[in-house]
Amino acid sequence: MSPITNCIKNKDTKINPIWLMRQAGRYLPEFREIRKENQNFIKLCLNSDLASEITLQPIKRFGFDGAVIFSDILMLPYGIGQRVEFEKNYGPKLGDIEIEKINKIDEINFTENLSKVYEAISKTSKNPIMTNRDMIGFVGAPWTILVYMINKSSPKKGLSSEFYKDDLLINKLLTIIDKFLKLHIKNQVDAGAKVIQIFDSWAGLLENEIPEYIYEPTLKIVEYVKQLGVPVICFPRGIKDYKNFCEIVKPDAVNIDYDVDPKKIIKEIKIPIQGGLDPTILLTDQINLKNKVEKYLSIFKDHPYIFNLGHGILPETKIEMVENLINIVRNFK
Ligand code: CP3
Repeated sequence: MSPITNCIKNKDTKINPIWLMRQAGRYLPEFREIRKENQNFIKLCLNSDLASEITLQPIKRFGFDGAVIFSDILMLPYGIGQRVEFEKNYGPKLGDIEIEKINKIDEINFTENLSKVYEAISKTSKNPIMTNRDMIGFVGAPWTILVYMINKSSPKKGLSSEFYKDDLLINKLLTIIDKFLKLHIKNQVDAGAKVIQIFDSWAGLLENEIPEYIYEPTLKIVEYVKQLGVPVICFPRGIKDYKNFCEIVKPDAVNIDYDVDPKKIIKEIKIPIQGGLDPTILLTDQINLKNKVEKYLSIFKDHPYIFNLGHGILPETKIEMVENLINIVRNFK
């Protein structure tokens, strides 16, 4: 069994597998090279040869234990017919919601629209370098997808009350999102994904509405992934109460963000834990990195722990620091 699934399923504490969120991305010169020639991000995600090549770039360079498919959580709104574009130095920009158009999309259309993503997963998992490594598929959590669909860009300054004004639309969208997230997960698993991670990047925006928008819709997705027999990792970034989240949603593993105190969480959460390290630590120096990484490794030494970050790796991260990180994790005793 590959190290990540072994850690999650067998609760093995002997090895700490390692992969990084956004490991296939802009800090890699070989990625920037491909990106320069491919200005349209969605088109790049739908080029199965290039998407597979990008997915494998960090595996070839660093030997991570998992390969996360080069795609995006916003491929879901794209797949149901909402316009999605990525603008340089701005981030994602989505089109208006045309509910009649979305209502016409069925399972077959959706799977066709994203067939290249599944083809990329299938090609990647067949590569010999993937022997004894996990192919990680992913989706955005229902709440985070809803946020992007309605807000139409990253809610960097939070959400206005405008966001909640159309209850009917919100409920309709949550039903649609639930249906297509499940299909998107099933298609990724059929194509070869061995683990599914659910990114709830904007979970931290909520306080009182957490049961309604996070616990209930995420639980439905988690139960679905479990039915498929695939381990599921949740990342409810910025949520205050990870313990409560885990008790209610019951993922197989949970990724913590860098505001979570590892010493406190280890007493509260019994399931395997992933991540935590602040990605800005990789922008400092080797000695500081070693201190901070070993802090996580020693706290979690008797707990099933997958090394990862508390959010995606930053584009300005130096290659040498990632090499250092891998060495520290692999040599830790
Ligand atoms: O290496 C990997 O992790 C695999 C691929 C991956 C991408 N996005 C590629 C990507 C994954 C897992 C994601 C998840 C994702 N996408 C999330 C959840 C994680 C998180 O960061 O909170 C979110 C919120 C998105 C939406 C998204 N995609 C944003 C907000 C942006 C722009 C912001 C930015 O960092 O520029 C993207 C673009 C994006 N997705 C890039 C990559 C490699 C950068 C695109 C580029 O080259 O310009």
